[in-house]
Amino acid sequence: MPKKLFIKTYGCQMNAYDSARMADVLAPLGYTPVNCPAGADMVILNTCHIREKAAEKVYSELGRLRSLKRTRERDGGAMVLAVAGCVAQAEGEEVRRRAPWVDIVFGPQAYHRLPDMISEAERRAVVDTEFPIEPKFDSLPEESAPRGAAAFLTVQEGCDKFCTFCVVPYTRGLEYSRPVADLLKEARRLVESGTCELTLLGQNVNAYHSGGRNGRTRSLADLIRELAEIDGLRRLRYTTSHPRDMSDDLISAHGDVDVLMPYLHLPAQSGSDRILREMNRGHTSGDYLRLVDRIRAARPDIALSSDFIVGFPDETDVDFESTLDLVRQVGYASAYSFRYSPRPGTPAAGYEDQVADDVKSERLAELQELIGRQARAFNAATVGRTLDVLLERRGRHEGQLVGRSPYMQAVHVEADLSCLGRVAAVRIDDALPNSLSGRLMGGSGPEDQLAGMV
Ligand code: SAH
Ligand code: SF4
Ligand code: F3S
Repeated sequence: MPKKLFIKTYGCQMNAYDSARMADVLAPLGYTPVNCPAGADMVILNTCHIREKAAEKVYSELGRLRSLKRTRERDGGAMVLAVAGCVAQAEGEEVRRRAPWVDIVFGPQAYHRLPDMISEAERRAVVDTEFPIEPKFDSLPEESAPRGAAAFLTVQEGCDKFCTFCVVPYTRGLEYSRPVADLLKEARRLVESGTCELTLLGQNVNAYHSGGRNGRTRSLADLIRELAEIDGLRRLRYTTSHPRDMSDDLISAHGDVDVLMPYLHLPAQSGSDRILREMNRGHTSGDYLRLVDRIRAARPDIALSSDFIVGFPDETDVDFESTLDLVRQVGYASAYSFRYSPRPGTPAAGYEDQVADDVKSERLAELQELIGRQARAFNAATVGRTLDVLLERRGRHEGQLVGRSPYMQAVHVEADLSCLGRVAAVRIDDALPNSLSGRLMGGSGPEDQLAGMV
């Protein structure tokens, strides 16, 4: 009998990749993904621990799931409830203490063992937060379903950088890069199943280094160059990069690898050298600005994005002003910004001089206002241009498709469903705060629309 599997994913793109891989692991056991937890035989919450809010969301969801699980049991069925991901890794047994109705708790490095965990859970609760010697990737099956036009591929996982605010080195473990040959195989399978854009994922994706042919160490740039040879692969992206690992060969790849898209997410976190030092980022704002210049010299139209934290312990108005300065100097296409959130077990959580919440909120609003203005200006500058848009999914209303420009902007277009999964030339008519709208070049009928595809 087919069983229903519901996975809810929080957090970063790597969690989205992991959720899809969990479904692959469970497919041979008869589990089919469904869109709603009611009536599911198994529910997995794939969680994020990066900020307090992210982690707390999980416990409120577990509260809601408790009653669904009861209803299912009253109806004579069963629901296996599992908590996966970074909250599971960081909190382990604590998850079951706060929510004893959870059957399985497992970390990001353990999901290849899910079938064993499920059978063990019939007898007793399971908590598996080991970091195995054998990486999980060696035991994962092939994809059980196509991933669509734009797909993720984890190439590197974990982090050795230990920024003082961050939980990732504790939840994902130390840095690990997957072998080139395995990645080429996975990428080819994805492309054969219809994927034409790949986003290479890693917590520090540009720290990627792995053995390749002739035992030579391969960098992310080498990997990109090999992947770019795959027939049918139209677009490559990678995220997230650390400024310290932005090597010369990677920068030049932006200048000469056609399929590498002109978009780079390069978190700066702060513009204050004092705060950057306290964060253990290993670079100054000057280093970051010089790096941006080099990247722009290689690819002048590149769209840059970043992450910023405001209200890190002891951040003064002057420090914050330096962050605004950095943002003004770089000019971002988009950026994410967050209030500093003390995370248990990280050094900065114990620092004195924690910044008051209202100060954090004021700074966040000011920074977001500046970033918003830059993003609107960046979007507005594309009006009147024709951009290649990969049409990835249906839009809100009938006859509308949504895709991404090379610069990662969401673009809404009136287009026939037959255009889904294709790269279309779209003339941009309008820039909204967070997206663009445009029309397909060519006529309006499906045949003409296909003629406009590139
Ligand atoms: N590996 C990436 C970031 C991963 S976490 C890097 O090195 O930049 C994604 C973002 O969450 C971070 O860039 C940071 O801006 C934010 N973040 C991480 N820990 C945080 C914390 N304790 N409080 C607030 N924001 C945090
Ligand atoms: Fe976290 Fe820093 Fe590692 Fe990024 S580089 S994952 S922010 S510790
Ligand atoms: Fe969150 Fe873990 Fe990703 S903490 S951001 S899900 S690596």
